[in-house]
Amino acid sequence: MTETPALDKASTREHWGSRFGVILAVAGSAVGLGNFLRFPGTAVNNGGGAFLVPYFISFVILGIPIAWCEWTIGRLGGRFGQNNGPGIMYALSRNALGRFTGALTLAIPVLVYMYYVILEALCLRYSVHFFSGGFAELFATANEASTSIVGASSKFTKETVGMNENGGMYGNAMLWLILLCFLVNFVIIYRGVTKGIEKFCIAAMPLLILCAVIVLVRVLTLDNEVDGRTIGSGLGFMWNPDWGALRNPEVWLRAAGQIFFSLSVGFGLILCYSSYLRKDDDVVLTSLSASSTNEFCEVILGGMIVVPAAFLFLGPGNTPASTFALGFFTVPAIMYHMPGGSFFGGMWFGLLFLAAVTSSISMLQPAIAFLEDGFGLKRRTSVTILGVFTTGGAAVIMYFSKNLQALDFTDFWCEFMMILAGLGQVIIFGWIIGAKRGVEEMNRGSVLRTPRLLPFFIRFVTPTFLIVVLSLWCYYNAPSRLEGMSPTIKGQAAARTVYAGAVAEHFADEELAGEALAARVTDLLGQAKGIPETLDGLPGWLRVLDQDAEAKRADAAAGANVARYVFVAVILLLILILAVSDIAYRNRIGRSIEQSGIDSGEWGTSS
Ligand code: ALA
Repeated sequence: MTETPALDKASTREHWGSRFGVILAVAGSAVGLGNFLRFPGTAVNNGGGAFLVPYFISFVILGIPIAWCEWTIGRLGGRFGQNNGPGIMYALSRNALGRFTGALTLAIPVLVYMYYVILEALCLRYSVHFFSGGFAELFATANEASTSIVGASSKFTKETVGMNENGGMYGNAMLWLILLCFLVNFVIIYRGVTKGIEKFCIAAMPLLILCAVIVLVRVLTLDNEVDGRTIGSGLGFMWNPDWGALRNPEVWLRAAGQIFFSLSVGFGLILCYSSYLRKDDDVVLTSLSASSTNEFCEVILGGMIVVPAAFLFLGPGNTPASTFALGFFTVPAIMYHMPGGSFFGGMWFGLLFLAAVTSSISMLQPAIAFLEDGFGLKRRTSVTILGVFTTGGAAVIMYFSKNLQALDFTDFWCEFMMILAGLGQVIIFGWIIGAKRGVEEMNRGSVLRTPRLLPFFIRFVTPTFLIVVLSLWCYYNAPSRLEGMSPTIKGQAAARTVYAGAVAEHFADEELAGEALAARVTDLLGQAKGIPETLDGLPGWLRVLDQDAEAKRADAAAGANVARYVFVAVILLLILILAVSDIAYRNRIGRSIEQSGIDSGEWGTSS
């Protein structure tokens, strides 16, 4: 046997400084915009209190077991000298499933970072704008002009992120704030796991929770009464259960998606963070502690602030399902009505910014670890390469800012890949490593033993639930998203809505709506799908809309093209990662696994 050349110092492994530090780092990765914005909007629009049923079922069947699997696989991967998803998967399972799952755990965090950092910068922009009195001035002007406050804040947001025109973000303060966020993230990452990530999270997490508690106390002690509504009725609005919603499979799908995004499971983040643990460090209680911190921030803090306050001040029609609209159109309007709103608004967006940074740094570490483990690069080089790569990606997402199309599509594909990566990891844990052996490894050094039924759950219940979720996801999303990538279908549908509006207006006396309206439009346009190429023969009042419809058609077609670009870019990134992982394996990862002295075959399939 030829002797394997020893790896140089770049592979010297870092470890977390303390258990408290690792809990806060993982909780920091989990607690983010998903907790404070995505959760309340999703819950109130999907059954209110009843949403908690599928949500907690998903937490128990998906969240906790997948997190435990990820923690265990990550810690095991660390023993093979690997802190990166592809390397960990190579060590445990060198088959197609392992390779694909490994590639996903690297692609997802990098992609999510590229759009998440834009939202992070927006939170910073809002915090500064509140503290500096910019919002107070904006709302005073809106008040003088008797225009709507929500309208004023949504106009401000749309201009800030360039939602009306592609490239709009380049011309304003957002560009500089995004660069500043990049700098903050990369400086923390550059300092390393203990001195950078752990230190930052130990300071940031308590601070952001304290700020959230202060805002919560402010909201719960509001004694305003607006049109008979109080903060108590706001809480009722948020949490009164609509049990009928549970019959809708989409509600279950949303709950499962929320658990994935919020706990950061399936991202590859926990995998990377836990690989910095020592062999006998506890994972069972540590994982539960990080998840519980996340749930506290999500259900208690996230669930009792935004929606009840929006109901109190703005009425029931102002809790949009979109995270973005709720967070950036509605919240500023709430702060306008709330006593001390400029201060509390600044604090709210400041805490969102901190929460976003503790999450975004965790999205960078997997790729840094990959570059270091796979190619022996020094920290400075790996940070520079990743900085250039993510800046390029974020710049493209920023450019296609019209209706935030690129951001929305990237988020959509990432959610899909997260479910796939979660499934890949439980299958590897339950069927390749073996659930029983895996759970024994999970309990190594643990201060709390896992439930006896856990191996059965990991082998059968969790994957089955995930397959159901994945099937529902495809059933509900695939048709519309595939259509969303067709310029012809999207263009025709957009043009058709222009005509439909005109028809409804023209026949207003007949109160046309729903199917009757659709039938009349179809009748007038002469065909069931889309609009005719030539409008000859249409009544004059309908024909004059030609230009308007054409503009809408072109707009929608351009949006569909963006959807295509994003889809192709995601596929290309996955192929690139698969290829580079293979090179990294031949370059260093294979040797490092060999030098760890642990037999891969002992843990998984080594062929
Ligand atoms: N888990 C992170 C969040 O909730 C990504 O924002």
